[in-house]
Amino acid sequence: MKLAVVGTGYVGLVTGVCLAKFGNDVVCVDTNTQKIEALSRGTVPFYEPGLEEIIRNNLEAGRLSFSTDLPSALDDALMCFITVGTPSLEDGSADLSAVRSVAETIGRSMKEYKLVVVKSTVPVSTCDFVRQAVAAELAKRREDIPFDVASNPEFLREGAAVRDFLEPDRVVVGVDCDRSADIMKELYSFLPPEKVIFMDIRSSEMTKYAANAMLATRISFMNEIAAVCERLGADVEKVRMGMGSDSRIGYAFLSAGCGFGGSCFPKDVRALKEFARKEGLEMQILQAVEEVNERQKHVLFGKLLRHFGCMKGKTIGIWGLSFKPKTSDVREAPAQALIADLAAAGAKVQAHDPKAMDETREALGDLQGVLYVNNQYDAVNGADALVLVTEWDIYKQPDFKKIRSLLASPVIFDGRNQYSPAEMKRQGFVYYSIGRGT
Ligand code: UGA
Repeated sequence: MKLAVVGTGYVGLVTGVCLAKFGNDVVCVDTNTQKIEALSRGTVPFYEPGLEEIIRNNLEAGRLSFSTDLPSALDDALMCFITVGTPSLEDGSADLSAVRSVAETIGRSMKEYKLVVVKSTVPVSTCDFVRQAVAAELAKRREDIPFDVASNPEFLREGAAVRDFLEPDRVVVGVDCDRSADIMKELYSFLPPEKVIFMDIRSSEMTKYAANAMLATRISFMNEIAAVCERLGADVEKVRMGMGSDSRIGYAFLSAGCGFGGSCFPKDVRALKEFARKEGLEMQILQAVEEVNERQKHVLFGKLLRHFGCMKGKTIGIWGLSFKPKTSDVREAPAQALIADLAAAGAKVQAHDPKAMDETREALGDLQGVLYVNNQYDAVNGADALVLVTEWDIYKQPDFKKIRSLLASPVIFDGRNQYSPAEMKRQGFVYYSIGRGT
């Protein structure tokens, strides 16, 4: 099939590239000329395991191309995926201006039947809005070209995006007619049919928000449980094991930590709350999920302050700046809240991350006393404490002897419960983690 994919962020790029891998002819479109030029050379503007390799293979095979010209890309395409960003507006609602602009361009330039597939995370009813925007442009042209709109939310995780696309738990498709259902069935024929769940369009749009909101809720819930464990001398890791082994609960997304970040959970929780509010519904649970997460992002700073009394003049080594491992994405990353707290309190920071140092510097601006170092042990050198914020593999089994000899005082704050409290004690560290009685 011939496909156009509009928007080359995580979702668009991974969708386009993986669908090309299955033999489809795919044009990925973006308005950003520099990005399109780089992608045409096989260079991906962010770090995502496995993505560059598939892009290069498919470019070579001639099944994949990149363009800034949406009308031309649409010419041959049977389907057009909308995968543009839907950032938060000031009130928390999703900004649909990019979605609208793509829909209008489709309406202005299509010459024959198209199936428009909305993959961006969009509030319930957006497919109707897309249909109206396309129809309005066709009406201006006095054209009556048939088209359908389908919803096909994406559930991939950054850092595991390619695998999630190729081996999904499920694919959700929202359709309102047999014609679009048949095309979507053919598109996903590389998956076992029971993995492709068809439903009405609004339920499909809602599924995406409900799934992300549920996962975010589990995390904030566990962060609150962790706070209680800490006060009462229980160990949240043991509690997690005891809870997760119940098949009704499961283990996933029950890890307490220093808060969730990224471009999805914070934004989607806000957007769901906002579009429910516009219907007169206050989502109280999600309000709490957000508040608990905001508080959690400052939990490490609170522990540092309690340990040192005053942070002025202290030097803190930080490991991990991206919002989670295996990505260079730093959007709403807990490390930024910590660095900002430390800088405001007059502490110095020596920060390390395998992929996200430039991105963090760009996001925070040049803060006084914040140094980015290329070796993880340079972050520890002469520091008063080490703080682990993001659990990249290289931080999981570090050389603790070396850390002890480099630190000015042997103190570790572990924001992701990666180390064993008993082992840390044996190695002579003062050790703080999340929800484990310290
Ligand atoms: C999330 C969802 O997991 C995907 O299914 C979804 O497609 C995606 O959002 C999206 O809407 O596009 P992602 O934001 O890439 O994916 O990252 P996650 O792996 O879900 O992690 C999100 C945050 O939660 C990270 O900061 C992570 O450290 C934190 N987290 C995760 C915890 O604090 N505890 C956990 O147990 C799990």
